[in-house]
Amino acid sequence: MSFIQCLDNIHDLPSMPHTLSSVLEGLDSMSSSAQTMEKIIRDDPVLTAKILRIANSPYYCLRQEVSSIARAIVVLGFEEVRRIVIGLSLTGIFSNDLGFDEFDTKSIWLHSIGVAKVSKMLAEDIDGLEADELFTAGMVHDLGRFLLCLYFSSELREILELRQKKQLSLFDAEEQYGLTHTEVGAYLAKRWNLSEMLMDVIRYHHRPNSAGPNTLAASVVFLADEICQKMKFGWHIEGEPDRVIVPKSLGLNLDIVKKAVLYLKEEKERIEASWGAIFFT
Ligand SMILES: [Fe+2]
Ligand SMILES: [Fe+2]
Repeated sequence: MSFIQCLDNIHDLPSMPHTLSSVLEGLDSMSSSAQTMEKIIRDDPVLTAKILRIANSPYYCLRQEVSSIARAIVVLGFEEVRRIVIGLSLTGIFSNDLGFDEFDTKSIWLHSIGVAKVSKMLAEDIDGLEADELFTAGMVHDLGRFLLCLYFSSELREILELRQKKQLSLFDAEEQYGLTHTEVGAYLAKRWNLSEMLMDVIRYHHRPNSAGPNTLAASVVFLADEICQKMKFGWHIEGEPDRVIVPKSLGLNLDIVKKAVLYLKEEKERIEASWGAIFFT
């Protein structure tokens, strides 16, 4: 039985968070509006409280206290609130200890937030990409990591040993072993009915040139991932190659990459302090 077939037999795989599907669907249908968003959020008091805490955190430096979701949408903007909801609904499903020194929940989520923000930023400079979709893609790109830790822990320990023994990158070791966080993540994406683009980004973010029609999106997330890891923003693993590879397919000017690095440097502490504390309490 292949590893992916094994997943069919796992009965407690997390289901798609309800708020996430509402918010993602809300964008596709033209009905997405501040009111719909407010309603989605209002149904969930924990989410409401967390959004208000984020809105009032030093991250946004607001002068006046935000005390309602309607107000948060006005002050932070519809799209920003939507991104917060996406972040919070995802971090809510994987929040437990993963049982590995090499992987911990909080840093993987911080990494994902970093990748999401940088992907969005890069996408703004590239024709043919929707920046907010790329934010979501960054948030979900490493979902498979959680599944490997939680459902394939002994295999993952063997992968880490193989990496050590053969001095491979973590992803090369996963591929040689025959079990990758990308395939496992794509399996979950399919189960959750995520869009083709999100599924391709999850599956190909380490091999973006294989992503067919979604090569551009996968390359953006690949590059954002490289930048976040090299800058040690959230989760990263020691002993990976040092240089950042910029996919040629993006046709990006290096200044844009530098801008992303600078942005991350400046925002690192703010993101860690504000988002980090609220996501995980
Ligand atoms: Fe990855
Ligand atoms: Fe990653």
